[in-house]
Amino acid sequence: MGGNIVKATPEAIAEAAAIIKSGGLVAFPTETVYGLGANALDSDAVERIFRAKGRPQDNPLILHVANIREAAKYAEINPTAEVLMHQFWPGPLTLVMYALECVPEITRGYLDTVALRMPMNPVALALIRETGLPLAAPSANKSGRPSPTTAEVVADDLRNAVDMILDDGPTSIGLESTVADTTGDAVAILRPGGITREMLAQIADLCEEEDDRLALRSPGTRYRHYAPALPLLLWTGEDLEMFERIAGMKWCYMGIQEPPAGSYRKIIFHSMEEYARKLFLALRELESCGGGVIVAEQPKDSGIGSAIRNRLSRAAGR
Ligand code: TXA
Ligand code: MG
Repeated sequence: MGGNIVKATPEAIAEAAAIIKSGGLVAFPTETVYGLGANALDSDAVERIFRAKGRPQDNPLILHVANIREAAKYAEINPTAEVLMHQFWPGPLTLVMYALECVPEITRGYLDTVALRMPMNPVALALIRETGLPLAAPSANKSGRPSPTTAEVVADDLRNAVDMILDDGPTSIGLESTVADTTGDAVAILRPGGITREMLAQIADLCEEEDDRLALRSPGTRYRHYAPALPLLLWTGEDLEMFERIAGMKWCYMGIQEPPAGSYRKIIFHSMEEYARKLFLALRELESCGGGVIVAEQPKDSGIGSAIRNRLSRAAGR
């Protein structure tokens, strides 16, 4: 067995829960990306996650829970976090809070804080409930690669390292959750995502944008991420000279705007939401289509565009 893609029927979810309860690894769908799940309270199982991904151990994992009451078993819930949970859970918002003792150090990257999220995908919720455990789950890709939005991509990266892959089709949001640190006076967005800055600002005081200290507080942002196998150039939609410079290079394109003529291959999205949903798959598709360089349109820095920009600039190695 091991690593097979299985349609997420109730029977398959029950089998997956049994695997997790006995210390195994199961890749499962969420509304953002597929996660590589294990019992967050079992240090050995969590260590297997780090090994499977090739992930540095100072980069902590998110605990996935099925409701707010469960969250209170693992973190000190401050008033700001409580308001945000009531407003945005279940959904793509991860909250960093002070950890309670029962959360193993390896799960929280040896920090005194822990990240928690209640996903909205019904398969994810059913799996958490069936295990009765918090699930530690990073994105189910090899460390540094674009995150997986389908079960097939999980299998490409991790087939031999997981015990089972639960398939629920392509994920609906496509980018990882917003990570918000609630331990300070104001909320700090450590990673932009589906719950946007604008949505959070209606409920809570936010730290200034582009605060360099944020990178230090979110260990994940210190590492190269989402790197495709080809060089990636970002296009704001104005600089047409860029295309002249790469004219002989079999350039591939993804974006909402039509690029100038001459692309070797292009993927056009019809909305920001579609761009977010298909970005990671498009990166993987273009890197292996036989071209020499990828050009991606850089959206404006607002709404879900901020999250797309963040992933693109990290994929470009900025
Ligand atoms: O949408 C998602 O969040 C997906 C799905 C599977 O839930 N998960 C995901 O996990 O993206 P991962 O491990 O790829 O990203 C978790 C991010 C990392 O950047 C990590 O550094 C940050 O959350 N993080 C986790 N715990 C933290 C903590 N205690 N303090 C600061 N940042 C933390
Ligand atoms: Mg990840």
